[in-house]
Amino acid sequence: MMGIKNNFKPLDSKVFVTQPLLPSLDSVEAQLTEIWESKWITNMGKKHNELAEKLKDVLKVKNVSLFNNGTIALLTALKALDLPYGSEVITTPFTFAATPHCISWNGLKPVFCDIEPKTMTIDADKIEALITPNTSAIVAVHVYGFPCDVYKIEKIAKKYNLKVIYDGAHVFSTEIDGKGIGEFGDITMFSFHATKLFNTIEGGCLTYNDDKLFKKIYNLRNFGIQSEELVEDIGINGKMNEVQAAVGLLNLNLYKEEQRKRALVKDYYDKNISGIKGIYVPQMPDNTTNSYQYYPIVINDDYPLSRNELYDKFKTYNVMTRKYFYPLCSDYECYKDLESSAKENLPVANEMKNKVLCLPYYGSLNQDVLSLVCGVLNEPV
Ligand SMILES: Cc1ncc(COP(=O)(O)O)c(C=O)c1O
Repeated sequence: MMGIKNNFKPLDSKVFVTQPLLPSLDSVEAQLTEIWESKWITNMGKKHNELAEKLKDVLKVKNVSLFNNGTIALLTALKALDLPYGSEVITTPFTFAATPHCISWNGLKPVFCDIEPKTMTIDADKIEALITPNTSAIVAVHVYGFPCDVYKIEKIAKKYNLKVIYDGAHVFSTEIDGKGIGEFGDITMFSFHATKLFNTIEGGCLTYNDDKLFKKIYNLRNFGIQSEELVEDIGINGKMNEVQAAVGLLNLNLYKEEQRKRALVKDYYDKNISGIKGIYVPQMPDNTTNSYQYYPIVINDDYPLSRNELYDKFKTYNVMTRKYFYPLCSDYECYKDLESSAKENLPVANEMKNKVLCLPYYGSLNQDVLSLVCGVLNEPV
């Protein structure tokens, strides 16, 4: 374990799991000047359209619709597919609150499916048992950057005539077998929140293959307005503004370098953590490229500390790790009474919620922090 200190001192200031990718202020100022001079600051302006076009290539997808955040994008995706009101949507509880909340806000019922332990994505082998005549869709989450079993999910969806929506908040630029991950399913949502690899401060997009969805999503995102005198759908305001889009255009020039730096962080972590007894480090499947969004580790029972004890220990060193995802969505007050929230239905998710810890993971992490994190993990007591 070269480079690992064994006389650990707390960091001078707190280090968090993520740090936003920030273009230089000069470059932002130049963009702002252009936007101010144009006097067009929102409503599908020039920057918005340029970013949407560029993202088609970056994400390797056919259609892109930009949004003011990922949550409104996901909300709109579910609306655009015209799922029958009150129907059931199979998802997992091992995700951020936005996933089941968007299902519920559409008047649909979330049905929680367990996850599989290697990638913590939906366990495709457990989906069929949850399908009823009232099931209309599957909302699967590519957690931490690990892809769902998109091929198995596609087969099930075809067999039962279900729509598939992917919450791809964590998988910017990921490819599966050389295809953009946003090509799979009916619609994929990407989040461009400040905590994500690629950000527009707040923002997000939907990607999809069906060209007919473009107009539908365009209108839903803009209050359902078709023309000056025709409002057809019950839409919402989901528009990305020009300043968000400009930050996105600048960050498009930076995210690959950030990924390269995160790959070095990952190498260092992998080398110094993967041999530790009691810690499992999940890895990407061979056919998938890495987005480098999160670095989760699994703390098993044979590690000297529990996950919570380790989380507290890191705090004393000013290292703010995250119990991501704890609690499960099925533990929330608003969902705990659903039949599918029963612990017996979700054994793996209930185990993982107490075992996973996300470590600081961004390109500018310095060697002192990396040495401290790995040092504490190697010598926790
Ligand atoms: C899995 C997941 N889904 C949805 C969202 C919501 O995206 P946004 O913050 O852009 O609304 C997030 C995150 O922030 C997320 O992590």
